[in-house]
Amino acid sequence: MNRQSRARWLAGLTAGVVVSLAAVFAFARNPGGAAQPAATAPAPDARVAAGRAAFERLNCMNCHSVAGKGNPANPLDGVGARLDAQGLRDWTLGQGAAAEKLSAGARRQKAPTANDPELPALLAYLASLK
Ligand code: HEC
Repeated sequence: MNRQSRARWLAGLTAGVVVSLAAVFAFARNPGGAAQPAATAPAPDARVAAGRAAFERLNCMNCHSVAGKGNPANPLDGVGARLDAQGLRDWTLGQGAAAEKLSAGARRQKAPTANDPELPALLAYLASLK
């Protein structure tokens, strides 16, 4: 084998290796072949939107405002930065540490939210208020 044909052979071999590696990576990243459907859990944005809808449906705005909408007496702007997940839950439901700081009337109006199927989305929405 002379120098020129050895170079050509090496170039061919390299090209072959590159093409097979590309195929292997393409398969590894997308084993199903066709595009995979999005993850089954709702995307964070959809969850926050559902939580915002629940916030309006559950009459939170009788006592709270967000971005100037609702009752300005108790604004919730920035609450996601002030409270951790447990704090958001306790204050939303009038439970735990929040219970003794709320009036009986506020606790009564907050309590039913504990049984709402959209509670996790509602809490995700509150956590997004930074
Ligand atoms: C009857 C009035 C009332 C209703 C209805 C109500 N809240 Fe409240 N909520 C209060 C009061 C009063 C406070 C304590 C004042 C404060 O810290 O802003 C409070 C506090 C909070 C806090 C903590 C605020 C902070 O800055 O620490 C969160 C979060 C909260 N409520 C969420 C909700 C959500 C979500 C709803 C609807 C499911 C709701 N609340 C319905 C009266 C109410």
